[in-house]
Amino acid sequence: MSDTLKVQIDTRKCQGHGRCYDLAAGLFGDDDEGFGQVLGDGTVTSDNEQQARLAVANCPERAIELIEEN
Ligand code: F3S
Repeated sequence: MSDTLKVQIDTRKCQGHGRCYDLAAGLFGDDDEGFGQVLGDGTVTSDNEQQARLAVANCPERAIELIEEN
């Protein structure tokens, strides 16, 4: 069985730059104060893996992580 990829936001690092939900609206939303939030359980599919990696690369605070779950 293949691993499941998930995105996570480290809320201690997120400063609300908003690149994540601009670049990967299928994976992230924003809360009332503009901080990024993972939508649903954050599962990354082959369809949005590119978006996920884009968001990881573009968060100025490096607050987004891609994790593999077995
Ligand atoms: Fe926060 Fe980074 Fe998104 S700072 S709002 S996780 S781009």
